[in-house]
Amino acid sequence: MKKLVIGTVAAAMLATATLAAEYTLKFSHVVSANTPKGKAAEFFEKRLEELSGGRIDVQVYPSSQLYNDNAVVKALRLDSVQMAAPSFSKFGKIVPQLALFDLPFLFKDVDHLHRVQDGEVGEKLKEMVSAKGIVALDFWDAGFKQFSSSKKAIVMPEDAEGQKFRIMSSKVLEAQIKAVGGNPQMMPFSEVYSGLQQGVIDAAENPISNIYTKKFHEVQKYLTMSDHGYLGYLVVMSKKFWNSLPADLQANVKQAMKEATAEERKLAQALDKEQFEEIQKYAKETGNLEIITLTPEQREAWRKVESTIYPEFYDKDKIGKDLIEGALNTK
Ligand code: LMR
Repeated sequence: MKKLVIGTVAAAMLATATLAAEYTLKFSHVVSANTPKGKAAEFFEKRLEELSGGRIDVQVYPSSQLYNDNAVVKALRLDSVQMAAPSFSKFGKIVPQLALFDLPFLFKDVDHLHRVQDGEVGEKLKEMVSAKGIVALDFWDAGFKQFSSSKKAIVMPEDAEGQKFRIMSSKVLEAQIKAVGGNPQMMPFSEVYSGLQQGVIDAAENPISNIYTKKFHEVQKYLTMSDHGYLGYLVVMSKKFWNSLPADLQANVKQAMKEATAEERKLAQALDKEQFEEIQKYAKETGNLEIITLTPEQREAWRKVESTIYPEFYDKDKIGKDLIEGALNTK
């Protein structure tokens, strides 16, 4: 009986909360819920609902349930979805300059990366996105990318020769793979697992959280800890939705976003470590995966080849020399 009463009260409270919501905000992304992006999206949901006193109902849709890859940017401009956090290359059609972050070996470490995102270069890129009618909120991390492969272990740049690599739709990533004689294949994130399993592609790159949560390591023979490039996101909101919010709710969005970003950066580091340990455990228990960590000399060999692609993107319509040098020289 007591249970029933509590249940009824809870149901009534829930109904009131649902009834009270004046705005519905759908947040679509393509990765698992148990990733830095997935968890931060849930954190944002909780915080914004709290701060707005339930006036905004946030609904998070992970794993491409609502939109796949690039499709979300178009949907956002039509206000079919109100929020997303696509990786940078997925803005390729409207702000190709965001591919700056895809350039291999551009950032010394995560602190350098954050200084670029929080500084002048990051601001410029956000302005470019705003000029296209999308509200640019904040940068979120996935982490540094690692290579995985099946045909051959990737240790030196020449090991990539002739291997078919899945890449996101990105001119930079295409150049990155071609620079080492690989064969780049653009493919949506949702198709990577089956692509690897069926051998449509031999190799791929992603941060540990995406590899682990989508089980890519279970359909690959080698994992190379290369940290050769970075994957991150720009969190964006539909302008129509933003403009429909009164000033107090806009302030709530900004506050929830600020807190979610701080949390996201911590989560990205923690999950990277935690989930790598899980992959190591899997490798040990099954014997089905060999994990290779590049030595500083091997990484240097990669950096040397890969940094030769930067001038291909000096044109302002591609990325721009000023942005590339601005990032490299950010102190
Ligand atoms: C990918 O397509 O590999 C990533 O952009 C997925 C993501 O959003 O992390």
